[in-house]
Amino acid sequence: MQATASAHPNVALIKYWGKQDVATNLPAVGSLSLTLGGLTTRTTVNFSAELQRDELTINGASDDVAISRVSRCLDMLRQHAGVDLCASVTTTNDFPTGAGLASSASGYAALVKAAAAALQVDISGDELDLIARIGSGSAPRSLHAGIVLLEKIADHTGTHCHSVAAPDDWPLSVVVAVTSRQPKDVSSTGGMESSRKTSPTYHAWVDTHPADLAAGLKFVEQRDFMALAEISEHSCLKMHAVAMSSLPPLVYWSGATVACMQRVRELRQSGVPVFFTIDAGPQLKAVCLPEAVGEVHAALAEVPGVLDVLDCHLGSGAQLES
Ligand code: DP6
Repeated sequence: MQATASAHPNVALIKYWGKQDVATNLPAVGSLSLTLGGLTTRTTVNFSAELQRDELTINGASDDVAISRVSRCLDMLRQHAGVDLCASVTTTNDFPTGAGLASSASGYAALVKAAAAALQVDISGDELDLIARIGSGSAPRSLHAGIVLLEKIADHTGTHCHSVAAPDDWPLSVVVAVTSRQPKDVSSTGGMESSRKTSPTYHAWVDTHPADLAAGLKFVEQRDFMALAEISEHSCLKMHAVAMSSLPPLVYWSGATVACMQRVRELRQSGVPVFFTIDAGPQLKAVCLPEAVGEVHAALAEVPGVLDVLDCHLGSGAQLES
């Protein structure tokens, strides 16, 4: 009862920040994201009668912290399969951890894909997305290819996630400027809850988000890069405004993050098709048309405080390997 699956991390243009239900990671808002090819998480799940408890190894090191969330996802799949065997989960990322690329999203996407296959449970679509979502709210997006919409729906799963453009339909590129390799002080989970409870702008964020999501989707459908740039930077900065106005304030940026933002805006003003987005950490992700990758990469590499620059392209959803 063993299977291996791979998945890619993703980055959101119209952001997810805030939970309607913490237990099931039901987001307060939908999101629109890019699945990033070239960076891969590979996970093997092996259910065995010889194990007394679930075990998790990430990049060769045993992990006792993430195991409880992993077990919650496995429990849901075990329940579907009518099986109560424990599992060993072995996962590796071929991209630098701490580069601000959400390895939890690709990790939980690969986990549920592999575990469902190992248990031979016939589960897919919104049901599999829900189990990935229990691990991490952004994980269902990594089950899908290219440009991905996660929308809230009124059924028992609560969300529906699907690809709105395949990688070749609109081949956007993402250049990641790494400005710190320190682990962040406040996790996304902790930050979102703090924002919900304390930020005076949290309700405005939730109320105005559906219009941003609809606009982002429309600009993707129209392949209107400059309009997508504007609404994406707006969503990113509005999310950070919510985080910064929480108590205590959450400032995820470094000085170099701000310098990168300014550099990206200068490039766009000079006609380069590029915009930025930033998650709950100090790395900046510059989204651009493929012909601009070289120029954007070179410009970000020169910003003082940038430690590394990675180029990514759009990729596939999670896939079963064996
Ligand atoms: C800032 O999915 O990492 O990257 O659901 O608590 O696991 P949990 O959070 P996570 O949140 C990602 C938030 C974000 C914005 C985004 O990716 O939409």
